[in-house]
Amino acid sequence: MAQDIEHKTIAHGERAPACSMVIFGAGGDLTKRLLIPALYNLARTNLLPEKFSLVGVDRLDMSDEDFRAQIDAALRAFANDKHYAQKLDEERWTALLSQITYLSGDFADLETFTRLGAKLDGIDKAQGKSGNVLFYLAVASRFFGPVVDQLGKAGLVTETQDRWRRVVVEKPFGHDVESAKALNAQLRKSLSEQQIYRMDHFLGKETVQNIMMMRFANTIFEPLWNRDHIDHIQITVAETVGVERRAGFYETTGAMRDMVPNHLFQLLALTAMEPPASLSANAVRTEKTKVLTAVHPMNAATDSVRGQYGAGERAGQPLKAYRDEEGVAPASKTETYVAMKLTIDNWRWAGVPFYLRTGKSMALRNSEILIQFKRPPLSLFKDTATEELTPNSLLLKLQPDEGAALSFGAKIPGPAIHIGQVHMDFHYKDYFQNAPSTGYETLIYDCMIGDATLFQRSDAVIAGWEIVQPMLDYWADGDKAPLATYAAGSDGPQEADDLLGKEHRAWKKLV
Ligand code: BG6
Repeated sequence: MAQDIEHKTIAHGERAPACSMVIFGAGGDLTKRLLIPALYNLARTNLLPEKFSLVGVDRLDMSDEDFRAQIDAALRAFANDKHYAQKLDEERWTALLSQITYLSGDFADLETFTRLGAKLDGIDKAQGKSGNVLFYLAVASRFFGPVVDQLGKAGLVTETQDRWRRVVVEKPFGHDVESAKALNAQLRKSLSEQQIYRMDHFLGKETVQNIMMMRFANTIFEPLWNRDHIDHIQITVAETVGVERRAGFYETTGAMRDMVPNHLFQLLALTAMEPPASLSANAVRTEKTKVLTAVHPMNAATDSVRGQYGAGERAGQPLKAYRDEEGVAPASKTETYVAMKLTIDNWRWAGVPFYLRTGKSMALRNSEILIQFKRPPLSLFKDTATEELTPNSLLLKLQPDEGAALSFGAKIPGPAIHIGQVHMDFHYKDYFQNAPSTGYETLIYDCMIGDATLFQRSDAVIAGWEIVQPMLDYWADGDKAPLATYAAGSDGPQEADDLLGKEHRAWKKLV
């Protein structure tokens, strides 16, 4: 097992130290759509190292020029997207392109890695770099273990005092508790935990990072953030996109594995964790893991709903059923929607339900966290026109409308006592100028400077899988678990409404 070697960390905001980056899966969509634009944005904001090189690795035979032409075309195609600078900085982009090369090879073949090692040594010698390398696994999850094995065999992940070697692993990290543990064990044969950066791109989103600031940089919320004042919490990640061209991946993955143990549980952990002792990666990640391990083992039959979208419509446009999408089996039982109720066994949260839902092809793209407070204890207004008081809520709006809204009751002007709900609405765009970003900039940069705070530690990944395992087992058991249907373009299945309805609660409407 590889040993930890301490390396100097660089302060946030300084240029990252000289290094090379190697992307496995360089011909793929992730590289073109997100990684290269993120590197360009880092170059534009002077955060990329002065001495930098990128080696793209993939199976396709291609020259450096072909590869550069491919990513140049892709970047230009997206240049007007909100994620990127509106106008390409030609000088910076050309400089970055000149630092990019390509290596074709089979990931299963050790010889590919030997050639890669020689190439990296050559680049380092020419640029006068000390050998820091960030390996990015932008490949299908079945390659994570084998690629790291080969990196180990080729001696490419051996660290010294002068050089770090780090590996970014994309999701999904395993497909259940056992496979995640096995993958961890496989990676740990060649890497120390400190060298592994498990990616969850939700943590690169400003509004997700802001959950900690909302809670711990203010005094007005935290005293209320507990079972005494909160009735329940809803976490929603709704998407309008369907399965798109990803049926090959999605059919065997489904909404649960694609979204829940990673993205939704990161939101859950940030919302429910105790304040960490410091902002160090370990302090933050320890608190996140603690709260995930305190989630009560769930009863999948009563506390979860899986659904799949049928045909529907949005704004008058017909939408396909999941089973009619290209590459999807006509009798597919893959879930495109999940809802669940979780409870947390600790002093802060005992008895407070957390309702989570995520789905594709829904009415609206909306990710948000609703903190629903309790009703006032005394109905002072019971003999007035207002029969029932609406409880306060705080809505953390993660995307696309980024901000937060606090809702409370106020007197409606007039002679009668009548109370209406009003909102204090904060929009990021009104206060801060958002730099164009794909969300991957922070994460790539943090990896280069050695800050793992926004990456998943192995114990949190396992804790996440342990929470969902009862649902995976229940659903795997043939036809025992029902698969609800919902119309594409809707808020989700009736069964998910019933999950809250039976507890006299309701989901916040999407539209
Ligand atoms: C990815 C999932 O991790 O996250 C996708 O694989 C999903 O299915 C995506 O669409 C959502 O991310 P974002 O940043 O677009 O909200």
